[in-house]
Amino acid sequence: GKVRAPTHIISTISDDRGEEPCYAGVPMSSIVEQGYGVGDVISLLWFKRSLPRYCTHFIEICIMLCADHGPCVSGAHNTIVTARAGKDLVSSLVSGLLTIGPRFGGAIDDAARYFKDAYDRGLTPYEFVEGMKKKGIRVPGIGHRIKRGDNRDKRVELLQRFARTHFPSVKYMEYAVQVETYTLSKANNLVLNVDGAIGSLFLDLLAGSGMFSKQEIDEIVEIGYLNGLFVLARSIGLIGHTFDQKRLKQPLYRHPWEDVLYTK
Ligand code: ACO
Ligand code: LMR
Repeated sequence: GKVRAPTHIISTISDDRGEEPCYAGVPMSSIVEQGYGVGDVISLLWFKRSLPRYCTHFIEICIMLCADHGPCVSGAHNTIVTARAGKDLVSSLVSGLLTIGPRFGGAIDDAARYFKDAYDRGLTPYEFVEGMKKKGIRVPGIGHRIKRGDNRDKRVELLQRFARTHFPSVKYMEYAVQVETYTLSKANNLVLNVDGAIGSLFLDLLAGSGMFSKQEIDEIVEIGYLNGLFVLARSIGLIGHTFDQKRLKQPLYRHPWEDVLYTK
């Protein structure tokens, strides 16, 4: 009989061998003809299934809301400095992307992990937050450099409003809001940030859509899919900042001496 040589790669999300590429079994022509959007493509390539419209719409809102946040944030700053050093698009983009992590934009997965664990174990916000403090861990998804209790992040509000209208359940988000109420009672900068809002709401999306088993949800949270939303979204803005600097023919950036405290 036929002997199948062992393969060195296993791939399950896309296939380009036929007449047209397929994403999770869906041919490109269907994607185009049936008017799929970016949220549908993310559903196919990341989650390997078609998700209901309210879920793909939510994904698209996350992408739009996180696409950019001005030139002063870590990622854009790095991209601008790199573009002004005469580097190419990819270098400028990845220079910005490399700042995404536990403090900036990359707290979504940890927010989902910690909120899920605390909610599923029935911890009160007080027990959860004080427990984290004892362990010396900042609550991921809480806190912002410029947003405050009396100057909330509009993005968080928009995501919450969409989910309250369209999601069957927002229990994880409501838990995150209770945590925020407690942290705000401690300090005015400890708001629920956009990472925390997306992390908690994605738990609601996964649990409420009926499209994922409990085991699949645990796997998604454990592997850490959700920072991908911020990485993908912010790439749009970082590419924009690169073009902006090149268009403006900005010279090499040098930080002013006056803004450095030289000390021994
Ligand atoms: N949980 C508990 N305590 C916190 C948290 C938190 N998430 N954030 C700040 N604090 C406390 C700090 O411990 C600090 O107290 P201390 O000086 O006694 O230690 C106090 O609040 C002030 O902290 P700062 O360092 O001045 O806060 P800063 O403005 O630098 O931090 C940051 C902002 C980095 C976002 C911070 O709140 C944090 O680490 N949050 C968790 C990570 C996170 O969610 N990042 C995503 C932000 S949204 C985005 O990037 C798109
Ligand atoms: C962002 O989305 O980049 C911001 O929330 C971060 C910031 O420091 O403003």
